[in-house]
Amino acid sequence: MTDKPHGIGGGLTNYGDPDFARYLRRSFARSMGLSTEMLAKPIVGIAMTPSGFNNCHRSMDDLVEAVSRGVLAAGALPRPFPTISLGEVFLNPTSMMYRNLMAMDTEEMIGAQPMDAVVLIGGCDKTVPAQLMGAASANIPAIQLVTGPMSTGRYHGQRLGACTDCRSFWGKYRAGTVSETQITEIESQLSVTAGTCAVMGTASTMACIAEALGMSLPGTAAIPAVNAHRLVAAEQSGTAAVRLLTTGIRPSQVITHKSVENALRVLMCIGGSTNAIVHLTAIAGRLGIRISAERMNQISDETPVLVDLKPVGEGYMEDFHAAGGLGAVLRELKPLLHLDTMDVEGTILADRLAEPLPYVDRSIIRPFNDPVSPVGGLITLKGSLAPDGAIFKRAAATPQLFESEGRAVVFTSLDDMAARVDDPDLDVAEGDILVLQNAGPHAAGMPEAGYLSIPKKLAQKGVKDMVRISDARMSGTAFGTIVLHVAPEAAIGGPLAAVRTGDRIRLSVANKSIDLLVPAEEIARRLAGFAPPPKPKRGYKALYRNTVTQAPEGCDFDFLAGDAAP
Ligand code: FES
Repeated sequence: MTDKPHGIGGGLTNYGDPDFARYLRRSFARSMGLSTEMLAKPIVGIAMTPSGFNNCHRSMDDLVEAVSRGVLAAGALPRPFPTISLGEVFLNPTSMMYRNLMAMDTEEMIGAQPMDAVVLIGGCDKTVPAQLMGAASANIPAIQLVTGPMSTGRYHGQRLGACTDCRSFWGKYRAGTVSETQITEIESQLSVTAGTCAVMGTASTMACIAEALGMSLPGTAAIPAVNAHRLVAAEQSGTAAVRLLTTGIRPSQVITHKSVENALRVLMCIGGSTNAIVHLTAIAGRLGIRISAERMNQISDETPVLVDLKPVGEGYMEDFHAAGGLGAVLRELKPLLHLDTMDVEGTILADRLAEPLPYVDRSIIRPFNDPVSPVGGLITLKGSLAPDGAIFKRAAATPQLFESEGRAVVFTSLDDMAARVDDPDLDVAEGDILVLQNAGPHAAGMPEAGYLSIPKKLAQKGVKDMVRISDARMSGTAFGTIVLHVAPEAAIGGPLAAVRTGDRIRLSVANKSIDLLVPAEEIARRLAGFAPPPKPKRGYKALYRNTVTQAPEGCDFDFLAGDAAP
């Protein structure tokens, strides 16, 4: 390490008398029952995120204990500390609004408290991105540990896992093919263990990205939350954090342009969540790393989908772990990866991948030459409707709708959609294109509302998918022919605000384009009268509204992006 570990003497409270500050701190530390010998050791902080509002982090106490065991055994003093925790389904209006708050909390508490390295424990969708963003900016030696995915439940012999099955059964309930009694029974079987969603949703995608970046220990992304190996991984993460005190490896050495490109390849290959694009952009942006939309599309076109998991395929995360996990994926992707990247252990990727895996289940992780799909899961679309870009998950869409032109049916807000989408008098037909405005970062905090419900009267006729467009996000566990993250968003006067019911819209996956088929002069005329919605005046929501960037910049706060702290 370039700097000697400071232990309890690091980052002193400022009383204008450093000796007094040390004396007082030692005295107060002793009140926690710590001996002089313990207080002389270097310190590994453990950023823990338990919460009565976060089911995905139910195993946090066990993980903190296991990390602490590893830290102690390796000769340092573990100091767990809380940060805010974001439970996906317990936050209004959306957890996305609080990701940056958690990132600031994490960065500031890492920097303000006396620790020489840190283990970050997160899991639920926004927590791992927030922790990686904070760690990248704090830039002290850091390791990411995830809580791990849930195991599946059973309903009448069928395996169930949050949350792809939540959505498919809800769709059947709306269409009238699943009864009230059945949906109540299903509700109790969807989330039956501790851990994050059981499919390749945002949480598991981000766990894979953390490992692909090199910020988590190899082989740890997919271990189920309730598997004993998850606790072993926690203990080993604690031990590895102490090794960081010697090597001094910092996040800025691990998260590089090349490792970000590797993580993008992994995202494409696993059929990962659309949300991960925004999060990876924000994490990379903390270190001044930018990947263009064109480069992202190139990576997507070169990278096959190899992982057969819901929501793209059939399996669950527990199958992925048993099949060989991310290590097996990386070995298949080897010809496409930058092999000279380094992980938190200082291991070069080429060396990690030189060791063969004893077993890979090819029904879950396909070989490179027999992919689930020959091209990657996500692409950026551009065009007159989204001049700065939009995201499309082709891996989870209906190929017959890839080249579509249709009539727009516009909902002007989330409230408007909720009020009218199931109205029997709604003027909508199969082949129309549903458009939701004012659900972007400025307007609504960018909730996961982009998975617009199929209008009930069409669902009951058997319509299962339609082209749907919005400036919102979509859950990583969702599926459909859905265009998301349209930028600029409607609430800042993007062309999305100009769409009117009856306009024609064209989607072309082949051309990677999304166009409003209205003359440019008419779009400009409609937008000339545009007035942005009123801004919140106080508190965090005002800070958010005034400083959040658009999706292609990662929805970070504009004053947090850039280079890491010195
Ligand atoms: Fe936490 Fe899905 S709700 S990962």
